[in-house]
Amino acid sequence: MRSFKVLTVCLGNICRSPAAQGILENIATTQQLHLELDSAGTAAYHIGNPPDSRSISALRKVGIDISGQKARQVRVVDFHEFDWILAMDRANLANLRKIQPEDSSAKVVMFGEFNEQANFGEVDDPYYGGTEGFACMREHLTDIANAFVLHLNSKDNTNR
Ligand code: 4NP
Repeated sequence: MRSFKVLTVCLGNICRSPAAQGILENIATTQQLHLELDSAGTAAYHIGNPPDSRSISALRKVGIDISGQKARQVRVVDFHEFDWILAMDRANLANLRKIQPEDSSAKVVMFGEFNEQANFGEVDDPYYGGTEGFACMREHLTDIANAFVLHLNSKDNTNR
């Protein structure tokens, strides 16, 4: 079975990237694919905290439990340990590229680039909005996650 190490990244690691991790974990269980997943934030505000309760509820509605996750900040070693580092928006991507060591092997890309329907590849930050934003985030992340797994399973992606 093919295996990949994947890190999802947003700003705070309490809304989007924990949800993306949970959704990818859930999709991988239905595929002939082994994903080792983690998530992290570019900022340090929420280190050690569980995901935002609105993210937990949005995911619980589709049978995915992300309540056990704990926020952490991206580390330089992540760029050597993960095959893929998936940014939720352009600011996250720019911040990741600033700290990515030149000799690191991770592919650092925008998660949304795997889905052509995505809003310029960005997953909107739902933190300052209402609960409907979290349902939207879940649906958007699910579309992108399906497209990403399709990419991993595609014949073109044989180098890892
Ligand atoms: P996330 O959302 O990056 O999707 O986890 C945010 C969480 C917290 C903050 C901003 C965005 N904050 O400013 O604390």
